[in-house]
Parts: sequence; structure tokens; C-alpha cells
Amino acid sequence: MFRSGVRRMKVLVVGGGGREHALCWALSGSPLLTKLWCAPGNAGIFDVAECVPIGPEDIPALVAFAREKAIDLVVAGPEAPLTLGLADACAAAGLRCFGPSAAAARLEGSKSFTKEVADAAGVPTAAWARFEDPAAARAYIRAQGAPIVVKADGLAAGKGVVVAQSVAEAEAAIADIMEDRVHGAAGASVVIEECLVGQEVSFFALCDGGTALPMAAAQDHKRVGEGDTGPNTGGMGAYSPPPVFDDAMRDRVMAEIIRPTLAEMAKRGTPFRGVLFAGLMVTDAGPRLIEFNVRFGDPECQALMLRLRSDLLAALLAACDGELHDFDLRWDPRPSLVVVMAARGYPGTYAKGTAIRGLDAAAAVPGVQVFHAGTARREGEVVATGGRVLGIAATGGTLQAARDAAYAAVDAIDWPEGFCRRDIAHRAL
Ligand code: AMP
Ligand code: GLY
Repeated sequence: MFRSGVRRMKVLVVGGGGREHALCWALSGSPLLTKLWCAPGNAGIFDVAECVPIGPEDIPALVAFAREKAIDLVVAGPEAPLTLGLADACAAAGLRCFGPSAAAARLEGSKSFTKEVADAAGVPTAAWARFEDPAAARAYIRAQGAPIVVKADGLAAGKGVVVAQSVAEAEAAIADIMEDRVHGAAGASVVIEECLVGQEVSFFALCDGGTALPMAAAQDHKRVGEGDTGPNTGGMGAYSPPPVFDDAMRDRVMAEIIRPTLAEMAKRGTPFRGVLFAGLMVTDAGPRLIEFNVRFGDPECQALMLRLRSDLLAALLAACDGELHDFDLRWDPRPSLVVVMAARGYPGTYAKGTAIRGLDAAAAVPGVQVFHAGTARREGEVVATGGRVLGIAATGGTLQAARDAAYAAVDAIDWPEGFCRRDIAHRAL
């Protein structure tokens, strides 16, 4: 199947969250795999890969390790190593890396860059303007009225976006982002956008620079509280596929958003290779692009990997080697769902080092896969080390059955310092 003819692959996954556990879990089932490493990994990844204590942003150390072990494929989980040039450093060292160059990763790193690319490619998106001057930004807000969306232009760990319901709220966001620099240098400029109304969907396409292959869609739950209330988080749960996203919508998104973007990036001399994550609003007028990310979503990836029937390793290699045009992916039509268990206090401050028990009982629930996000092993115990700690994922004949299985597994976990939302997939049930 591969022109490269490689049959035995050594793979290094970069990252240590739930997404990376799901990727390692899927890769570990590949008949092409000889050995899997993960840097830095976590207590769950430890079961399927050898964990190496290298941080995901230490590009020189990652490249040195990959060279030393003669790694055939480096897989970037999070965006930070990519925006820091992991793929470029791998290419310079003669290593294969799944993930875009730093130049192509600007699709996630800079909101105004994404808007420029979208406009040049004719991709439907919210009307927008970019400002470096707070007074000009305020004048624009007053002229447009509310609701209106204010975004720090740079990377702000997903926290630099204010969906303002009033002009006063939008102006306060300008003060926070541009004047008080609550997100640091990311607030040197802002993007102000029309507020889109509809259902938000995360859609993933595998790209090899020239060809894009649709993967699947998922719906994330970004707010910490039930009924989508409270502060934003990295994501408290997800399910796939979302009922609003049928095959016709997928084909539209491929034709109107993904393929034009890929063509525009190639035209600019910065072809996109890796997974293109389109954050979409499905509005009454059709799909609109909210943002791109240059990696799998977390926790969307966990839901997707449960449904992937094809060999993930073969797919990632095809993307790296420009061979997606004669590749296809098979998906389990049954729905999947993931419930994130987080440390009490998240996304604010929370305790670390608390013990988690009952993981084996949870994993024994039929249809369930337990993914670790922020865990470590300490004196024979699994302890929480992060905000988002576990992702309890399940498939089932129906979404309700998948959800029942996931919550049965949640209930088997003995972790008094943890919590989860009880209403994951409520929009679809
Ligand atoms: P972003 O970091 O661009 O994904 O924005 C974070 C969240 O803000 C998104 O997931 C949406 O829920 C919301 N959002 C961003 N842009 C818009 C928009 N133009 N209209 C409505 N909601 C938006
Ligand atoms: N769950 C949303 C993200 O990964 O950005």
C-alpha cells in the first residue's frame, strides 16, 4: 500500500493528555507498529507506549530522541510543538512528522491569518475586522452593536474569546485584552466578529498538502457546568456523530471550507499536512467557519478514535507521504461519547496528587474505554496531576446506550476530588 514500502514502524507520539492517550491506543492496534513511545505520556498511556520524560515543547530534545531511536513517524498531539516548528525540525533532520509546518500551523496560531486565508479562498465565515488601536476597536463595536465577538489575535490557550451580549461587555473585553493584556502579547491586536447563531460542530479532515479526506464530526461541551453554563474549559465531553451533521453537510463543508482552504495554503507555498480541525457553526444559512485548529480536538479525538475502523497508523503515513488520494477511512456507524472527569475547582484552581481508584472496574463496563488525561503513577497508585484528568469513552448501539455505559463506568470510579458533567450529548438526546 505504501510507496515507501515500510512495514515495521517505530512511532513517537508527542503530548500527554486524553487526546494523546486515544491516539496511542489507536496506534497500538496497528499491524504496522513495532514500537510506540510517547513524550511525556501519562499513567494510562504507560499501558500502551513507553513514556519518555521530554516536554512537548522541547523541540531539540524531541528531535534528538527521534533520531537516536530511528523513529519512522513523529505524531504531534497538541498545537504548541507545531507552532514552535516541530514538523520543520523533523523535516530538517530527515524525520517524518504528522502535523503541519510552523507556517501552515498559523491557521491556529493567528486568528487574523485564518480570516485572510478564508477570505482569499471564499470560505464562508463571520464578517470581521482587525484592530491594533483600542479606540478604533471601540468605535467599530459601537457602530456594529451587540451581540458581537471579541478575540485576542494570538494564541491565548482558548481563553481569548468574548462573545459579548452588549456593547459595554465588548468594550470591557477591549480593555482587558488590549490595555490590561490579560492574555499577554496575544492581545496586541484583536479580531472583532459578527456573532454567528446555530449549533457548533467540530469537523476533522486528514490532509496531505493536496488532498483532504473527511474524517468525522463531533460536538464538544465547552462550558464547565450542566446545561452549558459557567466558564469555558478545554472541553468537558463530546460525542460523535452529531445529528445536525449529516452526509450532505459533510460534503458541503468539504467543498466550501476544507478543500478551498487546502488549495489556498498550497498556493501560498505553505501546504497543509496533518489534521485540519474546523470549528463550525451550522447556521440556518449553512455551515460557517469559526476557527481552524491544526490538531485533533481534545476530547473530540477520544470519541473519534472509538469509531475509527481503519488503521490510524496507515492513515497518518498516507497523509505524511502525500498518498491520501487513494486512501479511504472506515467508520463505525454506531455513536460514541466521552465524559471528561476533572479535578474539583477546574477550570480554576484545583488540588493535585489525589488518588483515583476503581479504574479497572470502569474499564470492565462493556463498550467502555478509559482514557487518561492528567494522571501519573505514584507508589503503585494512579493520581490526578491536571485539571482534566480522565475521559470515559463508550460506544453503543444508540447514543443513549453509549451514554449509559459511560456513566456506569464513571460511577465505578472512586475519586472524591473529581467531578463530571452529567448531561453530555444532551443536545442530541
Ligand atoms: P474560538 O477560540 O475562535 O474557537 O472561539 C471560542 C468559542 O467562542 C467558540 O467555540 C464559539 O463558541 C464562540 N465563538 C467564536 N467566534 C464566534 C462567532 N463569530 N459567533 C459566535 N460564537 C463564536
Ligand atoms: N475541544 C476543543 C479543542 O480541542 O480545541
